Amino acid sequence: MRKIAVALTKGGVGKTTTAVNLAAGLALAGQRVLLIDVDAQGQAGKMLGCAPPLGLAELATGSAAPDQAIAPARDRLWLLGGGKSLAGLKMLITRKEFGAERTLSEALAPLDDQYDYVILDSAPGWDALSVNVLFYAREVLSPASLEVMTLQGLSDFAQNLASIQRYHTDLQLRYVLPTFYDRRVKKSAEIFTQLQAYYPAQVCSPIRYNVRLSEALGYGQTIYEYAPASIGAEDYAALVERIKHDDGTQGNP
Ligand SMILES: Nc1ncnc2c1ncn2[C@@H]1O[C@H](COP(=O)(O)OP(=O)(O)OP(=O)(O)O)[C@@H](O)[C@H]1O
Ligand SMILES: [Mg+2]
Repeated sequence: MRKIAVALTKGGVGKTTTAVNLAAGLALAGQRVLLIDVDAQGQAGKMLGCAPPLGLAELATGSAAPDQAIAPARDRLWLLGGGKSLAGLKMLITRKEFGAERTLSEALAPLDDQYDYVILDSAPGWDALSVNVLFYAREVLSPASLEVMTLQGLSDFAQNLASIQRYHTDLQLRYVLPTFYDRRVKKSAEIFTQLQAYYPAQVCSPIRYNVRLSEALGYGQTIYEYAPASIGAEDYAALVERIKHDDGTQGNP
């Protein structure tokens, strides 16, 4: 079972859009996928048009069993919802005297090997929950917006990752996904070239700027449902292919 965290400290770079459309794309490709929303904004569920009453917080605090907390979202795609209740879980984690960073891993251990993929959508920032996500995951996919100071943000994040990798040696920054690519904008191509130079093994084909991706959210639909012929659907399908093609073993993709 592959455990992929979609994470970057910076906000608004396309983490949730990527987590949802990657998870949905893998499910369409025949994989069994669990999408875990680890963000109090609860956006991942909204993007799928799902608002399950129970979710990750209830599972992790033991007030719900996995089959109560995990909601079916599409064929072969399940959702463990986030949302406001995660604030309570975060508090519980920060009050623990030891083992706090493995709270999520312990709660999710019973799900091991029940899916082909677990995809986690992280909140922006760096807090007890995001650290827990990185202790659980083995692969990190960082979306890097080509509109902003991407390299600095990525290298700061990679440093944070390194501090976790000392204790969790299986963790790898495996994919860097350029997002908001716009070929008409010179800066976009420049940043993409820099990313390729710094992260040659990790850089994926970019996700182009596509307004359909943001429109789909309003309808609670994935990009494959809302606009299957769009460039957004095409780009995320290419990402799904790349990730599926890798076998999940450690090492460069
Ligand atoms: N390739 C794209 N083209 C156009 N709009 C996009 C693209 N990717 C994401 N968006 C839009 O940009 C906004 C931010 O995307 P998203 O919510 O996925 O980012 P995020 O990193 O999860 O944000 P946060 O850090 O707040 O969780 C959303 O409105 C989304 O619909
Ligand atoms: Mg998000």
